[in-house]
Amino acid sequence: METTLQVSQFYIPPGFIDLGLGDPQFSLLPLELMRRAAEEHLGQNDPEFLQYGTEQGDGTFRQSLAKFLSRGYVWPIEPGSLFITNGASMGLHLICTFFTRPGDSVFVEEPTYFIALHIFADHGLRLVPIRTDENGLLLDSLEEELTKSHPKFLYIIPTYQNPTGHTLSTDRRKRLMSLSRQHDFLVVADEVYHFLSYSGQPPKPFAADVETGNVISLGSFSKILAPGLRLGWLQANAGIIHRFVNSGLLDSGGGMNPFTSAIVSRVIETGGLDDNIAKLIATYRLRIAAMDAALHRHLPGVGYTIPQGGYFFWIHLPNGINARELQRQAEEFKVGFRPGALFSCKGGMKDYIRLSYIFYEPDKLEQGVLRLKQSLDKME
Ligand SMILES: Cc1ncc(COP(=O)(O)O)c(C=O)c1O
Repeated sequence: METTLQVSQFYIPPGFIDLGLGDPQFSLLPLELMRRAAEEHLGQNDPEFLQYGTEQGDGTFRQSLAKFLSRGYVWPIEPGSLFITNGASMGLHLICTFFTRPGDSVFVEEPTYFIALHIFADHGLRLVPIRTDENGLLLDSLEEELTKSHPKFLYIIPTYQNPTGHTLSTDRRKRLMSLSRQHDFLVVADEVYHFLSYSGQPPKPFAADVETGNVISLGSFSKILAPGLRLGWLQANAGIIHRFVNSGLLDSGGGMNPFTSAIVSRVIETGGLDDNIAKLIATYRLRIAAMDAALHRHLPGVGYTIPQGGYFFWIHLPNGINARELQRQAEEFKVGFRPGALFSCKGGMKDYIRLSYIFYEPDKLEQGVLRLKQSLDKME
């Protein structure tokens, strides 16, 4: 039952620093950009965007989005390959609805995005973890699992992964695509962090491979504009898009989010989205550097690699310290993080934690890491 009249999903108690939080800071939400785009669009005297939308998603918006994606992916993207969603989470839920039945197997990275695990549980899916290293999914482990069971799909976050920050290497991407053809399973590539790259261009996205019929790529405005918009897209070949468009859900409710789509279309067309991404990258670069420096200073014994994009540091605790026990201790010092076991579908990763640097300014990140050190010191 709701106990407060809360607006946003999370609540941080006063004085607490939650380094686990993967949500953008309020001051980085693009209020002015949205205000201008909404005013311009509402001033046009054209009410069509208040109508039930076309099932695949506003065509003008898909055209703007396709142009943006073609530039960002350095790969031509057609508006016809895009289906508009209420965000990547909704896309994932729809994929499960249309392509699985309870009891089906789905392969996931170990570790993976913990709320995706929750969505898969809602659909009664059997999860098979595939091991990963700093270059992403281990293809030998995948091949071995493929000899034991056949997945309906593999869910993967190939670029700047949640929670590890790791990126699947180009060689592994190629081998994964060839295995998906050979063993006939879908690759569901959650590419929501692709555009938050802090050092150079990431590898070619899976979005470039959707015509093979073995790939669905998920994208979202949550990380590059604002999560409250509830706007994203999925990209697939014509047969798969047809399945989404011809569902009862879309038949009844029309395309997703035509109101927001029309306004965001304007944000893209006026260059506002590119500017916003550039601003986020400049800000997050400073925050990564601040968190890295704080970890060096206060926690020289922990293991991690500096993320090249996305939101997260994935930290290996020293001496097999249990992250859940550390969490209890950390509460005393008013600092939070996400324990690694959350991201494991088999209860592993107990001595890992996920930290995020996006919600706080550098001085708060420093303070948070210092509190984490104090909590760790108390454990020993
Ligand atoms: C890997 C991944 N996928 C999906 C989401 C949620 O995306 P959306 O807000 O578009 O539903 C997140 C948010 O944390 C995420 O990290």
